[in-house]
Amino acid sequence: MRTTKVSKTDFAITSFVVQKPGIVASDFHNNTVAKSQIKPPLKWAGGKRWLVSHLTPFWRQHSQRRYVEPFCGGLAVVLGLLPDNALLNDINPHLINFYRYLQAGLKIEIEMRNDETLFYVHRARFNEGVRQGLGDTAEAAQLFYYLNRTCFNGLCRFNRSGEFNVPFGTYKSINYAKEFSQHQEALRKWTFTNCDIASLPIDVNDFVYADPPYDVEFTTYSAGGFNWEDQTRTAELLSKHRGPVVISNQATPRIVALYEKLGFRVSYLSGPRRISCTGDRSAASEVLAVNGLVNE
Ligand SMILES: C[S@@+](CC[C@H](N)C(=O)[O-])C[C@H]1O[C@@H](n2cnc3c(N)ncnc32)[C@H](O)[C@@H]1O
Repeated sequence: MRTTKVSKTDFAITSFVVQKPGIVASDFHNNTVAKSQIKPPLKWAGGKRWLVSHLTPFWRQHSQRRYVEPFCGGLAVVLGLLPDNALLNDINPHLINFYRYLQAGLKIEIEMRNDETLFYVHRARFNEGVRQGLGDTAEAAQLFYYLNRTCFNGLCRFNRSGEFNVPFGTYKSINYAKEFSQHQEALRKWTFTNCDIASLPIDVNDFVYADPPYDVEFTTYSAGGFNWEDQTRTAELLSKHRGPVVISNQATPRIVALYEKLGFRVSYLSGPRRISCTGDRSAASEVLAVNGLVNE
């Protein structure tokens, strides 16, 4: 087991570049378009866009494989790496419904404004759909996008009945996309699933990048209902994968001890300021746990 220290200066935040007109959509999958041009469509707590430059050397060794992300969240990493073949999973059904509609060519037909009254009207409509089991409609996908852009800090929280309960945000101005052809093309070849990681059909040859919810130590709160037992079963499951695996997580002592005990090679990164569930934006120390890969 080797532990590598990575200095702060080694880590770079990938910058967004505005897409130039005239770029052909199929260029995405031919990798002829600068990867930083595809911005994740949603705000997502724990987004790992800043990690892409660290993961690229690992992925480059295995880019002919299927790419699997059991906790895909806001798609920041997969949109940075742009694999040809990917299996992307998240337990959040509204998120996966939104991505499936992006693949099908989502058009925004509902009213979108940074307005508190409209926000609560749309939130009530979204929750009515949840109650009626209509969470997999195009309208639900549009409402989910609107709520994500407009709510407090882009958080995604639900009450016990599965209703979205994040309040109106505090943004001065918001850009709402009207169409998503760039994302439609980028997501075109990928498969989206909505299950717990334990049910995900990971193949022996897959390259797996796993970014579970952060371990929140010394508190009874578990982010997104992901508790310590979930952390351990996830780590154990991934340690049995015979193909290449990278896991990122908050570098709490028990997470580091768990990954080392299971034989992962562990290194540390200093993450950017992040959105926590409380809106706290302090920087986190991140751990990268790697198996079945060599350093470039
Ligand atoms: C830290 S976020 C991933 C962020 C993502 N890497 C990005 O860059 O946007 C963790 C994700 O795990 C999902 N999740 C939580 N529990 C899960 C489970 N048991 N199985 C699969 N996904 C789960 C959450 O919905 C959340 O989107």
